[in-house]
Amino acid sequence: MVSRIGVGLLGLGTVGGGVASILLSPQERHPLVADLELRRIAVRDLSRPRPIELPAGLLTTDPQAVVLDPSVDVVVEVIGGIEPARSLIMQAIKTGKSVVTANKAVIARHGQEIAQAAAEAGVYVLIEAAVGGGIPIIEPLKQSLGGNRIDRVSGIINGTTNYILTRMANEGVAYAEVLAEAQRLGYAEADPAADVDGLDAADKIAILSTLAFGGAVDRSAVPTDGISQLQGRDVEYANQLGYGVKLLAVAERMEGASSDAPLPLSLRVQPTLVPKDHPLAGVHGVNNAILVEGDPIGRVMFYGPGAGEGPTASAVVADILNIAGIKQASADGRGSLDPLLAAGSWRNCELVDSDKIRQRHYVRFNTSDTPGVIGRIGSCFGDRNVSIQSIVQFNATDAGAEIVVITHEVSQGRMNDALQMIREMPEVSGLAAHLGCL
Ligand code: HSE
Repeated sequence: MVSRIGVGLLGLGTVGGGVASILLSPQERHPLVADLELRRIAVRDLSRPRPIELPAGLLTTDPQAVVLDPSVDVVVEVIGGIEPARSLIMQAIKTGKSVVTANKAVIARHGQEIAQAAAEAGVYVLIEAAVGGGIPIIEPLKQSLGGNRIDRVSGIINGTTNYILTRMANEGVAYAEVLAEAQRLGYAEADPAADVDGLDAADKIAILSTLAFGGAVDRSAVPTDGISQLQGRDVEYANQLGYGVKLLAVAERMEGASSDAPLPLSLRVQPTLVPKDHPLAGVHGVNNAILVEGDPIGRVMFYGPGAGEGPTASAVVADILNIAGIKQASADGRGSLDPLLAAGSWRNCELVDSDKIRQRHYVRFNTSDTPGVIGRIGSCFGDRNVSIQSIVQFNATDAGAEIVVITHEVSQGRMNDALQMIREMPEVSGLAAHLGCL
């Protein structure tokens, strides 16, 4: 007789509600779903109306009652935020329970500590729902692509900002209105600043980087720029020049790695111009897409819904099923350790100085509309060895002109030097926008 697996839920918000409704309707799903039994759920407010009908006696306001319940085999943490989520995860591990979590903030900052504790306790911590919502990207990076030397992982990994950018570009809808709609649809974080300031994407790229390159980076050092300062005119100018604007997250291996030194990596999150014929330019609405480039695989793209109740719950339940499958297959309830989350196999990685990051840039200057301005701006770039791909003047009026420059690939340090020279030109009143460009 196959033993049933007890599931305890920490949190019954958007994602928790989605997980509960899958577990309570196993019909027509994989037969293993019917072996999962929802045994305890921690919520903040017992009296809050719930859209799903729950068996009596499941709810408690005490998360420890879930973690310590002997009938709970797998703890599912979908509360979000750092504390008490981190402590509850650690407590579950120390109690010998496997954990499934969608918590990118905790994993990006405390992943190594959690992995080490899980390895010592002989349990699993699975995180498929932490990045890319319903897109399977964690397991492919951990397992299916494990034989590759990964060179770059990049993509659109925040559904809320992609939803906002898409609707602003297509319908010209006001930023605040679109954000409110994203919150209503359950895409946005409890504090949407995490989405629009790029922090959620930075958590996620730090996690993808850890898996792709085999070691953690300092999350607090990831250069991060969101969309809250992005102006509609830059989206429009980009459009006229043949680009869409996306909030892109990038993690790449830098040249010059030696076997005994930490692996040098460059990570960043920034609004970026994407050529309209690039695969990421066609990713709209709440969808996410992640491009993985490596040797010998070449390039693979993972695409799908990146946020929301159903997609995120789909990823959480897949992780619960993985653990359930292992538990049922293993006589003593302990399968082999999840290889790439075992702390023993992590390597040292370090972020390179941001001056060394190489990429193309889009910049917009406010200038006076006088003879020779474009030439002098061009000379400043030339003097600093920054090669220009295009330079265009928009909106020339008596009040001034806007000059947009797209560069070829150049280091951030050299670009900053050129921008400093240009800012000092008397005809230039300011650097009005600075975005990345693919
Ligand atoms: N707020 C996140 C997003 C949810 O918009 O992508 C999924 O992590």
